[in-house]
Formats: sequence, structure tokens, C-alpha cells
Amino acid sequence: MVIVGIVAGGKGERMGGELPKQFLELDGKPIAVYTAERFLSSGLTDALIIGVNPLWRDYMDGLAEKYFKGMDNVTVVNGGADRNGTIMNIIAEAEKKFGLSERDTVITHDAVRPFVSERIISDSIKAMEFCDICTAAVPVTDTVVVSENGACADAFPDRSKLRLVQTPQTFKADTFKSVYNSVCEEERSMMTDVCGMYRLCGYDVRLINGDVSNIKITYPEDYERAKLYAEKIPDCFSEQ
Ligand code: CTP
Repeated sequence: MVIVGIVAGGKGERMGGELPKQFLELDGKPIAVYTAERFLSSGLTDALIIGVNPLWRDYMDGLAEKYFKGMDNVTVVNGGADRNGTIMNIIAEAEKKFGLSERDTVITHDAVRPFVSERIISDSIKAMEFCDICTAAVPVTDTVVVSENGACADAFPDRSKLRLVQTPQTFKADTFKSVYNSVCEEERSMMTDVCGMYRLCGYDVRLINGDVSNIKITYPEDYERAKLYAEKIPDCFSEQ
């Protein structure tokens, strides 16, 4: 089976405001709901689990009641202290509910990347036929520098070798727990995504083609851009 884990447990501090960004509206519905619906309507997945900050659990339960009523393949769980902790809680719930085997796939996705396409979802799932973990990524278009002190540029990595990592990040369900437990807490909280942990544990992390429209809403400017994209649908999903 294919289980979707929507990570919606962040506070959205860079966005600011009272309401965490994943609950702001896009095309008349909360962003987390909008994103979840992209997976549900793809018909490519079997169950969906949303991890939210415990302080916003009641709020998300209310949204689930409104938007996913009667859908017993959608579950809400408490998120963790960091993003990987939220994924751990999602995996624990999936294990409890479905029992996980090596045949199962978990496809994790940021609640705040509402424009994931059906092609990316499909490619992520198909990649599990030949790898243990993969992530969507796109080539870097700006020059990237390394700066030790934030004031001077110390190194100029070859741009042709650089990729921007997006989500979904997809893995075989039975591998996550051992990876999570073999990485120390400090490393775990430093890693902003699952792939870094898998790489530390020696796995090959495969890259699949993401898309420039698969944006992450981080700052208010991203939210404004997302509202424009949402108006242009289905044009901005023309690759599907
Ligand atoms: N996330 C999560 N659990 C956490 C932290 C983050 O599920 N403990 C999720 C966020 O809700 C978001 C995704 O991870 O969907 C990507 O994280 P980011 O954009 O950094 O979100 P925030 O942590 O909310 O943002 P900020 O760092 O500005 O507070």
C-alpha cells in the first residue's frame, strides 16, 4: 500500500501571523487541506496521515471533520518537535493502523507545497521499484556560495552539480524507524529532511524530477505567489 504523510506540524515563524501558514486559505480552503486533496484526487495512494502541532490538533480535527468527513483513509496525528519527529509519529500511526511491511511505500510531503503534480507523485511511487529512498529535486538556477561568517563568500560550488531539494520524499515503509533511531538527536534536529538521515546511514538517495511550480510557502511573498498560481490552475499543471 501507499501511505501519504503530510507534515503540517510547523509553526510558520518566518511567515509570521497568528495562524500557522498551513491553515491560511488558498482557493477557499486551508493550504494543508488543498495539499492533501492533491494526493487524494490522484487516485495513486491508499491512506493519508496528517501530522500537526499538538497546540493545533483540535483545529485540524475540525478541518478534517469538515473536509474529510466519512473518509476513514484520512487520519490526523500529533506532530513532533522537529520535522523528522513529525514523520516518526506518522510512521508510528501507520504501523498501528495498517502494520507496515517492506512492500509498503510512505510518501512524505510538506503541507505547505500545495502544487505537487500527479506526475511527481507517480514518479515518486514508481521509483520505489528501484531504490529505498527518493526525493523530488530541481536544478539550481542561481549561483550558490558557501559563507562561513555570512559576510564573505568562501567557496563557489559548481552550479551544474547542485540541486534544490523539494518534497515528496518517498521511502520503503520498513526502513524509516531504523534510520531514525541510528541517527543521534543532534544530527536529527540539524537535518531538515529525511534524505539527510538516510544518506548518513549509507543509503543511496535517488533524485526524481521535481518542478519549479512545486513551491514551498515560507514567506508572505510565497503565499502571494501561491494565490496567483492557484488562480491559474490547471494552466500551471500543464505538465500533467
Ligand atoms: N513541520 C512539521 N513538524 C515540525 C516542523 C515542521 O511537520 N515540527 C512541517 C511544516 O509544517 C511544513 C514542513 O515541515 O509543512 C516544512 O517546514 P517549514 O517550511 O520550515 O515550516 P515551519 O517549520 O512551519 O516554518 P518556520 O521554520 O518558518 O517556523
